Parts: sequence; structure tokens; C-alpha cells
Amino acid sequence: MVLVTALYLAVSTASPPLPPGKGKEIVERMCSSCHALKVVTSKRASPAQWSQLVDQMVSRGAEGTDEEVETVVEYLAKNFGLDSPPPASEKTEKEHSAAQPVNVNQATAAELSATIGLSSDESAAIVAYREQNGKFKEWRDLTKVPGIEASKIESNKDRLVF
Ligand code: HEC
Repeated sequence: MVLVTALYLAVSTASPPLPPGKGKEIVERMCSSCHALKVVTSKRASPAQWSQLVDQMVSRGAEGTDEEVETVVEYLAKNFGLDSPPPASEKTEKEHSAAQPVNVNQATAAELSATIGLSSDESAAIVAYREQNGKFKEWRDLTKVPGIEASKIESNKDRLVF
């Protein structure tokens, strides 16, 4: 069961959902039949480039009314413009493959979030627990922190340094 949860987490973080907004549902319907939505979410382009690209996709067979196409272009230009942050999934892949050790008795909450993939609440809880109870001695100690998903700790236990 723990393994299933860990796998689910890995998959769900690997392909980030589309940001909310007008056009999200249309993109989901219109742009996911031929390729993964990740192809769309990892692209960065200007409004003019998105317009051109969506036209290209329509000529390839993407189906939508003129109005839907317009909405999609606006949505993509807004969320995946040239100044938007780089795709989250690429970042997590890099972080995962680097598999940097992390000292759980010294790391800040932000470092814990970035390296072990904990939510900011979980990381803050670890830091607070450490301040109250002293240093962690082994990975199992971290699973005692209230609100921590033990599977996240367990799947990273080889990287934890004390
Ligand atoms: C009928 C099939 C089809 C549909 C539907 C479709 N695409 Fe594509 N798309 C392709 C093909 C084939 C490629 C790869 C060829 C290429 O790169 O030009 C591609 C490539 C892409 C790329 C990568 C190419 C680049 O220039 O970076 C992006 C981004 C993209 N599609 C966005 C979209 C969006 C947005 C939609 C929805 C409006 C969409 N696609 C719907 C067929 C489709």
C-alpha cells in the first residue's frame, strides 16, 4: 500500500496538471489526443507563436471552434509565455536524478521541500519538531513528525544524512 502511494505521488508530480483558468478544459480536450499534455506544458512561447502553433495543430487535426481556438491561445500565452517559469517536471526530474544527500538536522524548510519533495507544511513541521525535540537520529524519527507522509520519508531514506 505504501508503495502504491509512493508510485502515485511520483506519477502525479511528474506531469503537473494544467493551471486553472478559462481554456483549461478546452486544452485538455483539444490537445491531449495526439500527444501528452506535457508537450504543451513544457513549451514556452510568445502570444504570436502560440497562435501560430495552435493553428498548426488545428491543421494537423486538433478540433475546436474559432472561439475555442482563441480561448486556448489566450490561455496558453498567459500560462506558458516566454517569461513563465520553466516546466516544473523538468526541475523535479533533475533534482531526483541528482539525488543529493540532505542533512535533515541542518536543512532549512525550503531545502527539505526541494530535495525530498515535501510540502511546505511538512517541511516546516520537520524544522519545528527538530527545534523542540533535538536532532533526528534515523529516518524513522522523521516519520513521527505530525502531519508527515511516512512514504515520502521512506522513499528518500537513503539520501538522508544525520
Ligand atoms: C491531430 C493531432 C494533434 C493534436 C490534436 C494536437 N497536436 Fe500538437 N503536435 C502534433 C504533432 C504530430 C506534433 C509533433 C510535430 C511537430 O513538432 O511539429 C505536435 C507537437 C506539438 C508541440 C511541440 C512542437 C513545438 O513547436 O514545440 C506543441 C507545443 C504542441 N504540439 C501543442 C499543441 C496544442 C497546444 C494543442 C491543442 C490546441 C495540440 N498540440 C494538439 C499533433 C497534434
